[in-house]
Amino acid sequence: MPTKKKIVILYGGRSVEHGVSVNSARNIVEYINKDLFEPVPIGISKSGQWFLTPAVTKDIEQGKPLGLILDPQRSGFTLLSSDDRFKADIIFPVLHGTDGEDGSIQGLIKAMDIPMVGTGVLGSAVSINKIVAKHLLKAAGLPVTKFLTYTFADQKKIKFSEIESKLGLPFMIKSASLGSSVGVSKVKSKKDFKEALEESFRYDDGVIMEEFITGREIECAILGNTPAQASLPGEIVISKKYEFYTFDAKYVDPEAVEIHVPAKLDKVASNLIREVSVKAFEALHCEDFARVDLFLTKRNKVYINEINTIPGFTNSSMFPMMWKERGISFTDLITRLLDLAMERYNRGKRIERDFQSSLKF
Ligand SMILES: Nc1ncnc2c1ncn2[C@@H]1O[C@H](COP(=O)(O)OP(=O)(O)O)[C@@H](O)[C@H]1O
Ligand SMILES: [Mg+2]
Repeated sequence: MPTKKKIVILYGGRSVEHGVSVNSARNIVEYINKDLFEPVPIGISKSGQWFLTPAVTKDIEQGKPLGLILDPQRSGFTLLSSDDRFKADIIFPVLHGTDGEDGSIQGLIKAMDIPMVGTGVLGSAVSINKIVAKHLLKAAGLPVTKFLTYTFADQKKIKFSEIESKLGLPFMIKSASLGSSVGVSKVKSKKDFKEALEESFRYDDGVIMEEFITGREIECAILGNTPAQASLPGEIVISKKYEFYTFDAKYVDPEAVEIHVPAKLDKVASNLIREVSVKAFEALHCEDFARVDLFLTKRNKVYINEINTIPGFTNSSMFPMMWKERGISFTDLITRLLDLAMERYNRGKRIERDFQSSLKF
């Protein structure tokens, strides 16, 4: 029997989405094909320490503290208590938000020279930042809402009347680099504005303000790499109780949403959504997989809202549901992602790292 590949499932992390990551990783460990792979859960605590945990758990700090070996010749992990070492064949970061989805951990794994599932440093960094992502999508000719951006240093220059005249009312304010609707508010009047702005700046140095789009919330799952393919779009119908898709509606209130996979759409809208989603995946340098979130108006106008490079894998997550609808089980989906990561890593070996020159140093 061939030896099983050791798959490090990296979870937790220094992010407001720590808990979501724990739930996603728990599912991946449960569903990964254990005939082919040996999952090794490594948790990152909220304070950023790494631990080897016997299973995916919210009590990450009960695990064994780990150090990283960065030497690419023998890279891997070391148990700080015993100096024992182990390697990983592939690392699957199942981390959402800050550090985990923004390119930081991806850079660390790249430096370790270990194959990794998902988008690399560049795509992760540009996709997590709603400001940079919007500029790139717009430059690629893809449909995005009207937006304005500010930094914390600009605060004094921010004028409600100016924003209102450019974006209309209501408008959205969002922290540039968060997820799960943290730091996101809908501003309906001047009275809401100050608090909403403070909330967004609490989590980030950058904020983006956007014209409010009244429309359906559509999501499209993408699997890479060349060519990237799109699932049929799904829809999240949010209860009228909520003004938009808030944190509570996402994770706390089980009655908040109705999920339609696939979304009830006519062929024209469905094809357009799939087409722009693949283009967004490419424009933002994404790899292996991503979930593209969009709005669809009554007049069939599509806007790309954002792209998630490590979408949720919880029981109520759209990404695995949308592929299941296409006939790919959770288990097969994980295998597919691991295969994509390996293929991409092997392709990357083509690239020369050394440049022979007569430079003396
Ligand atoms: N321009 C917009 N118009 C209407 N609703 C929006 C807009 N931007 C965000 N929202 C609402 O806020 C939610 C969260 O915003 P999003 O940009 O997706 O941030 P996050 O990364 O936190 O998910 C969206 O799912 C949607 O319900
Ligand atoms: Mg979102």
